[in-house]
Parts: sequence; structure tokens; C-alpha cells
Amino acid sequence: MSDSAPKGLAVEDVCKEFETPTEPLVVLRNIRLHLAKGESLAILGPSGSGKSTLLQLIGTLDRPTSGSIALGGVNPLLLDENALAHYRNNQIGFVFQDHHLLPQCTLLENTLIPALAFGRPDANDRQRALELLDRVGLADRHQHRPAECSGGERQRAALARGLMMKPSLLLADEPTGNLDRRSAEQVATLLLEIQKEQHTILLLATHSQELAEKMQQQMQLIDGRLEPN
Ligand SMILES: Nc1ncnc2c1ncn2[C@@H]1O[C@H](COP(=O)(O)OP(=O)(O)O)[C@@H](O)[C@H]1O
Ligand SMILES: [Mg+2]
Repeated sequence: MSDSAPKGLAVEDVCKEFETPTEPLVVLRNIRLHLAKGESLAILGPSGSGKSTLLQLIGTLDRPTSGSIALGGVNPLLLDENALAHYRNNQIGFVFQDHHLLPQCTLLENTLIPALAFGRPDANDRQRALELLDRVGLADRHQHRPAECSGGERQRAALARGLMMKPSLLLADEPTGNLDRRSAEQVATLLLEIQKEQHTILLLATHSQELAEKMQQQMQLIDGRLEPN
């Protein structure tokens, strides 16, 4: 794994415990992870091994019990609430197992949602959203609502939305877990192609060895520790 270039992701000694009525549940132990711009890594591990927890910490949706995280030289754990929301929206794209598209919005409107944080989307934002929808094969579907689309199409729209703000880090948590084989292949192929085109760091959690092998590197979570696969 490469050195922590200033533009890369550096996770140092991250631990995460959850409080329980009895003793704390230790989920992650001293996680260390360095990824440079354009690198992709699959985190493997069975259900309950802490994959989603790790992605949520790196995605700043939750805070580690101890340790540090830096992306592009910025430690998000030190930012105030406003700056953190700005950082998350600008630096990080999320693709979850479930698409989380808004049912009342078209695919174009859904793709534009991350841009809403900066006020009304302008013509450039619309142009980028349309280009992304085109890139994921949905050029002729941008006026459709999620209910009118297949699972694969919805997940491809979620990928377009995740890329809207040109994130330096894309976090994908079981992104093909709800899809049939053919759609899963399409989404995985697109993820990797676009990641290479945009030099994004891609961190993908999966229990699928087959999907993991498409990434440049693979690690697995065992007893809360990140180990070579
Ligand atoms: N908010 C939480 N409070 C308590 N325990 C949690 C919480 N989130 C996750 N866990 C526990 O942490 C462990 C890892 O969960 P998770 O990260 O979702 O695993 P995975 O994504 O690999 O299936 C599980 O035992 C889960 O029950
Ligand atoms: Mg999970």
C-alpha cells in the first residue's frame, strides 16, 4: 500500500467501541490504512465484522473511539459541524447497498441533491448531472422516477449522485448486494471505470470475493483487525 500522499487517505490507529449495557463491544482495533489518489481497495469480511462501521467512520457519519483520519491533509475530526458537513459533501461520495434515492424526485433531481447544499443548482450542475447519468447509461431516463426504474438502474443513478461533487473518496458499502448478477456486473464495471477516469480513491466493502478481486487491493477484517486477504 502506498505512502500517505497529501492528497490521499490516511487512517491511523482507528479503534471503535460501542457501548452496551454490559461491557463495550469492540468492533475495530487499531485500523491503519493508507490509500493514494486513484487507488482502489476492497474490505472483505463476513456480516458483522465491522465493514460498514469502518466506512462510516471514514465517511464521517460516526466518530472513532480513538485514532485519526486524514483526507487530502485535512483531519475531519477537528472540523466544526458546518465545516464537517461541507467537507463530507465535497470530498466524499457514498454508494450504499440500498440506493436511497428520493422517490418523488426524478433521476436528474436525485443526482443533483448533493449540489443543493450550495444553493440552487445552476446550469453547470445540471450539465454535470446529465453527463454523469449519460456515463452510467441513463441518458434517456433522467426524467424518470426511481419507481419506474430497475434495481440496476436505480443503483447506477445512486452512483451518479455519489459522483456529483467530484469527490476525492468514493465509499461503496455492498454496492451490488441487492442486485441480480448481470446488474451487479454492470454496476461494478462502471464503478471501476469511473473511478479510474476521475482518479478517485475507491474504498469498497463487500463479502463477495468475486467483487473484491476487481479492486486493485484487498484486505479483510478479522476480529476487528485489518489483515491482508
Ligand atoms: N450503532 C451501533 N451500536 C451498537 N453496535 C453496533 C452499532 N453499529 C454496528 N454495531 C455492531 O458492530 C458490529 C459490526 O457491524 P457492521 O459494521 O455493520 O458489520 P458489517 O458491515 O461487516 O456487516 C456488529 O456486531 C454490529 O452489531
Ligand atoms: Mg455492512
